[in-house]
Amino acid sequence: MKFFLDTADVDEIRQWSATGLLDGVTTNPSLILKSGRDIKEVLAEICDIVDGDVSGEVAATDYDTMLAEGRKLAQIADNICIKLPITMDGVRACKTLVDEGFKTNMTLCFNANQALLVAKAGATYVSPFIGRLDDMGIDGMELIEEIRAIYDNYAFETEILAASIRTGNHVKMCAMAGADVGTMPPSTIEALVKHPLTDKGLAAFLADWEKTGQTI
Ligand code: E4P
Repeated sequence: MKFFLDTADVDEIRQWSATGLLDGVTTNPSLILKSGRDIKEVLAEICDIVDGDVSGEVAATDYDTMLAEGRKLAQIADNICIKLPITMDGVRACKTLVDEGFKTNMTLCFNANQALLVAKAGATYVSPFIGRLDDMGIDGMELIEEIRAIYDNYAFETEILAASIRTGNHVKMCAMAGADVGTMPPSTIEALVKHPLTDKGLAAFLADWEKTGQTI
């Protein structure tokens, strides 16, 4: 499973990029607001840091303006992926932009039929929002499983980009369900490496090593 960082904070992106584990970045209008920066400027900087796909979201809701904004965002860098909401205009804009050779990420996916529709439109990614479904008492992971089954039935190439990931358990379940990508905040990736028994075991090994008096 590919790991994308869900942030527009360039310092965090730089730090994770240095690990060699980062496969891409997703942003949305709320994350741009949080960054306090101009969308085109910050996306250009992110695209410079990261080789993989970087999602930048359109703000328009009508087909023509979505196309115009999408084309403008795509001019920023070759690795820009145009993010569009799953509405009728959004799906239509997706089809046109894909036909023009652009990458698209169809966002705010909350059911399998939406995912089926955007795959038919040729989307590069579909973004099912697991955490927001969980917040409503609906198992977000079931949606990932349903989309995986549908895409496999018809050999759709659209990648499942599991979004709104909030916990390490979400990450594990996404990987088990066959999501292609998981996008998560830096705090969630950081938490993946941690286990109390790892810390405890390491402390014991280091203490014993100290007693050997050796160096390597
Ligand atoms: C990613 O593309 C989404 O915008 C993001 O994962 C949403 O996460 P949230 O539900 O935590 O805001």
